[in-house]
Amino acid sequence: MSDSRRQSEISLVVNGERKTLRAYPMERLLDVLRRQLGFTGAKEGCGEGECGSCSVLVDGVLVNSCLVPILQADGTNIITIEGLTEAPEFHHLQQAFLACGGAQCGICTPGIIMAACYLLSKKPQPKSEDIREGLSGNLCRCTGYAQICEAVSEAAAVDNARHKDATGVNDR
Ligand code: FES
Ligand code: FES
Repeated sequence: MSDSRRQSEISLVVNGERKTLRAYPMERLLDVLRRQLGFTGAKEGCGEGECGSCSVLVDGVLVNSCLVPILQADGTNIITIEGLTEAPEFHHLQQAFLACGGAQCGICTPGIIMAACYLLSKKPQPKSEDIREGLSGNLCRCTGYAQICEAVSEAAAVDNARHKDATGVNDR
């Protein structure tokens, strides 16, 4: 059992790169990502698992990094918003958020893009209720959500059209 007063060695893969560091077991994954590793894309909103601003993927699952003690993340594979830039959905989402006005102050935006990418990777042709459900863990104080949902829908449409052009089939 680890001693919470002593730092432990933690090893994890972040955005494809192995990182080894020392941290107190109960330090939050969010803080380690931002302060020790410099991945400041994940934002702190509520700090208590309610707003989704700090969303990252841990072993392929969307989680609130403010709720994850670093010890639990030892040995995992983490993707932050900085690591999503190669995903085709990411570029379509960026464009669609700009076009639809889906981002204002931007605090919620990285978490929402993470959740939207996760949704589109699982469900490339989401209905509006899928989008609402997929983003239900992400709060935005500025936009009123309509533009955000529209942006995700728009990104899905572009992504599917490109896929159809590239493969000749609409198999998603
Ligand atoms: S900061 Fe993590 S859920 Fe709000
Ligand atoms: S754009 Fe400001 S909180 Fe969402």
